[in-house]
Amino acid sequence: AIDLTGRHFLKELDFTAEEFRGLVDLAAELKAAKRAGAETQRLRGRNIALIFEKTSTRTRCAFEVAAADQGASTTYLDPSASQLGHKESVRDTARVLGRMFDGIEFRGSAQADVEELAAYAGVPVFNGLTDDWHPTQMLADILTVVEHGGGRPLTDTAFAYLGDARYNMGNSYLVTGALLGMDIRIVAPRLLWPSDKVVAQAHALAAASGARITLTEDVAEGVRGADFVTTDVWVSMGEPKEVWDERIALLAPYAVTMDVLRATGRPDVKFLHCLPAFHDLGTAIGREIHARHGLTSLEVTDEVFESPHSVVFDEAENRMHTIKAVLVAILGR
Ligand code: CP
Ligand code: NVA
Repeated sequence: AIDLTGRHFLKELDFTAEEFRGLVDLAAELKAAKRAGAETQRLRGRNIALIFEKTSTRTRCAFEVAAADQGASTTYLDPSASQLGHKESVRDTARVLGRMFDGIEFRGSAQADVEELAAYAGVPVFNGLTDDWHPTQMLADILTVVEHGGGRPLTDTAFAYLGDARYNMGNSYLVTGALLGMDIRIVAPRLLWPSDKVVAQAHALAAASGARITLTEDVAEGVRGADFVTTDVWVSMGEPKEVWDERIALLAPYAVTMDVLRATGRPDVKFLHCLPAFHDLGTAIGREIHARHGLTSLEVTDEVFESPHSVVFDEAENRMHTIKAVLVAILGR
């Protein structure tokens, strides 16, 4: 089994394809063991700090349940409950928590903050999402692709991401697909493509892995032959409310509808979404958008979200199994 003792988990670029795949395979083993009631605890006595500068449902719960299953304890620091960011610097916080905990999860805005935490903590640090990357989400998504890929190798899997691609999810999909040798498509208006730097990093990985990389504004071209279609919210955590109007105007043609799924030409195409998703009026923000724009969904229609193509709750469950794999590979005995 994969052993990443003492490593940080900060971004996909820090790992080889073998290491990344090893974490996904370990997650599948841990998932099967839990289902069989045969899980072995390898984190007994470990203490893990969970720092969230931004809110979370899945990532927080995944870390807490994964740690508890494996015998570790967690301490949750919510966006207002610590001195970090108000009266204590990242590097002082790192040196304090590093004296008490065996590992630290951090979700925040700046990738530089999670990197600085890692540089000063003296213990492994796990990135629970920054503006730039969402690496634990990638492990869950690849596990879900493996489970729903019908035995197709990743190198023969076409994966299309539609929507805002110059943020964490778009960056992470591009680089992860490139790392793993996939046929990875970014389908978005040019203004919202990943930065030239991220695109160059992906091309460098693709040269070694044989990945095919497509960036296109054309939805029909981008999704043709895709085995998986995915998207993300059009306005991310931490972005100002004022960007909604502009984002809706730019991204309306990139909403995942049944027509988009049909355009893949794959009757068994699967839909992924990291969640939360705006697919109906079940939320306050959804009702506000409806009142202002008359829209009942944004990045994905309710029809797609609730269809048999959708595997979003398998994906959400897999957050827990894959985060458990990260903790076990890095902190396990
Ligand atoms: N997908 C994801 O990271 O969800 P949360 O924001 O709820 O953690
Ligand atoms: N891009 C989204 C992802 C949420 C999991 C955000 O940063 O809010």
